[in-house]
Amino acid sequence: PRVVFSGIQPTGIPHLGNYLGALSNWVKLQKSSAPEDELLFSIVGWHALTLPQDPAALLAARRDMLAVILAIGIDPNRSIVFHQDHNPNHTELCWILNCITPMGKLRRMTTWKSRLAASRNAGSESEVDESLLNAGLFTYPVLQAADVLAYRATHVPVGEDQQQHLELTRDLADIFNRTFKAPSPMFPLPLYVSTKCAQAPSKRILSLKDPTSKMSKSSPDIQSRILLTDTAAHIKAKIRAAVTDSIQGITYDPVSRPGTSNLLTILAACSDSDVTEVARLYENKGHGHLKSDVADAVEELLKGPRAEFERIRHETQYLADVAARGAERARLRSEETLGEVRKRIGLA
Ligand code: TYM
Repeated sequence: PRVVFSGIQPTGIPHLGNYLGALSNWVKLQKSSAPEDELLFSIVGWHALTLPQDPAALLAARRDMLAVILAIGIDPNRSIVFHQDHNPNHTELCWILNCITPMGKLRRMTTWKSRLAASRNAGSESEVDESLLNAGLFTYPVLQAADVLAYRATHVPVGEDQQQHLELTRDLADIFNRTFKAPSPMFPLPLYVSTKCAQAPSKRILSLKDPTSKMSKSSPDIQSRILLTDTAAHIKAKIRAAVTDSIQGITYDPVSRPGTSNLLTILAACSDSDVTEVARLYENKGHGHLKSDVADAVEELLKGPRAEFERIRHETQYLADVAARGAERARLRSEETLGEVRKRIGLA
């Protein structure tokens, strides 16, 4: 049987990249799961603390993220849906894994390297680069590994930008297995599960305003992303204003036509079809035509989840009940792993 695990940070309403790159796959995996498979989806509040957060906003974002997960179709009776920070087994396992994690591996994480580069751009001397960054940013991927390994997960549906973190998770599982052998390997090596949009050459949904970078929650330009809560009018306006190019006709060419190709990726992902086939349908059409179809497809995709979210987000008692039950199930489930881990390392 499979054990599926994934997580998302409660840093605001998810955008189309989160949805097409990861969340939609959670729902698909839930639908296609066998009865003996287990699925766990976590709102990772501890990861969010690696960047400064306003406490009141974080609390609200955490609750909204739970409402989003339910709104897109994750069934809390089928899957375990929970707040990471409700289960201290994650931080305990994180500490244990920290003690077998080579520093060099963490230094090679591209997320860490880009943080360092950003602090360098901020004008600091190279020796003080690291002192401007908090230790949580550095050990972030170890906590992510703990999230996955606490349940001995076998499948992890994430966007392409999380693939390196999953590689580290596999490395740490392997180091643990070899260090604490008996009687059988403790952890399966979890597999990366990608979506359609991650199979397209661009691998991810890109910013609508700067199609050389990914669509992200942290960009200051809100026109660069479509939120799950955007209305049809917002969606239309943002897609219409998306940066493309002035080349005649539509072709899929992520290197020289990133903006146009990103719209094709979105359209293909919305209909679960192959991007080169979608591109062929627009060969002799213009950007206006493509943009109008993309806006319609995105609206069609998001209108159900959006309405559900608006309904569920106000059901505070229901949300609190789901969170409490999820926490209980997650704790019980991870306790099996942690009990065994403690025994193996000599802390039982
Ligand atoms: P987070 O919260 O940044 O993103 C959630 C998911 O959305 C995917 N994603 C994208 N996919 C395609 N195009 C984009 N532009 C795009 N932007 C984001 C991400 O790949 C991710 O799957 N570290 C994780 C959360 C995490 C986690 C875990 C995931 C913590 N522990 C354990 C899996 C397993 C993160 O920051 O995701």
